[in-house]
Amino acid sequence: MAYKIVTSPAAMRREMLAWYDRHRRVLPWRVTAGETADPYHVWLSEIMLQQTTVATVGPYFLRFLERWPTISDLAASDLDEVLHGWQGLGYYARARNMHKCAKVVADELEGEFPDTEDGLRALPGIGAYTAAAISAIAYGRPANVVDGNIERVMARFFAVEQPLPDCKEALRDLAAGVAPKTVRGRPGDFAQAVMDLGATVCTPRKPKCLICPWQRGCAAKEAGIQEELPRKLPKKAKPVRHGVVFWVMRNDGAVLLRRRPEKGLLGGMIEVPSTDWLEEQWSEAKARESAPVKSDWTPLIGMVRHTFTHFHLELSVLATRVGMTVKPADAIWSTPDRLGEQALPTVMKKVVSLALRAG
Ligand code: ADE
Ligand code: SF4
Repeated sequence: MAYKIVTSPAAMRREMLAWYDRHRRVLPWRVTAGETADPYHVWLSEIMLQQTTVATVGPYFLRFLERWPTISDLAASDLDEVLHGWQGLGYYARARNMHKCAKVVADELEGEFPDTEDGLRALPGIGAYTAAAISAIAYGRPANVVDGNIERVMARFFAVEQPLPDCKEALRDLAAGVAPKTVRGRPGDFAQAVMDLGATVCTPRKPKCLICPWQRGCAAKEAGIQEELPRKLPKKAKPVRHGVVFWVMRNDGAVLLRRRPEKGLLGGMIEVPSTDWLEEQWSEAKARESAPVKSDWTPLIGMVRHTFTHFHLELSVLATRVGMTVKPADAIWSTPDRLGEQALPTVMKKVVSLALRAG
């Protein structure tokens, strides 16, 4: 496929960097013009920004830096503390890989991140996007950084009609064509400029073409189809899964928790014990077979709903009280006022709040 280029890549880069110098967003991980970003800060922010919005990440980023000012501090901490700090960001595999990566950098690389894309990609949790972003932003190396914002801007500027995800390769090639090829072209600033343009001007809905530095030459704007691009193949509807959780309160007020297996969804996180999460509904009798203790169960009123990447989850809750002699395998007992110290994922916080309200 050939795309018409009505303005030169060099002119596009100049216009974009000039726009960035006036309109860049002030973000906690950004340095001011002329300063070099700390690779640890860039890495931390880029890992957090995968699948999470800039607004959500801000406070987490600052708290992490306060708690773990250097990568060696992070490497020396407990995985549980990191998971606890990560609560609410979701996709916990990122936090586990982050901790692994910190250990490799601190223990094997003298605390210095590699400065090449290949070196970065070899680290846990660093994929093509993150490697390109760190090498460009922290080391000023030319790299083709492509995230969702940049894809949208490219699809529009070049009026790519093919839908996502089929056009990803084409968008990547188009982005490579306009990205700076030299250190002097400010690769890190350029990448962040296009991200900012996508977040503030070339927005998913109602792009503000009249204030866009790339309006001259934008093929989608020219054709009046900017709001229709990028086209997307229809998404598969998410299935609904069902589970039953067991709210077990001991006579001293402690609640029964356990740790999820390391592998799989929410791996290694703390949960209120539950049946498997299946697409069919559970009968109470069937659910009881998975109960962590033998007891009389009372269904609580209400339902916990949570959406994961690939499914919606609906949890109902069975509650019981047990004596001090009950000792289920792998139990973690926590009083309700200390639940905040546990690495409970958001879905389990919802369970806790339903149970405490109902109980
Ligand atoms: N999204 C991911 N990385 C970003 C960055 N460095 N600036 C703005 N948005 C981003
Ligand atoms: Fe996006 Fe409009 Fe700018 Fe084109 S002119 S890049 S559609 S904001």
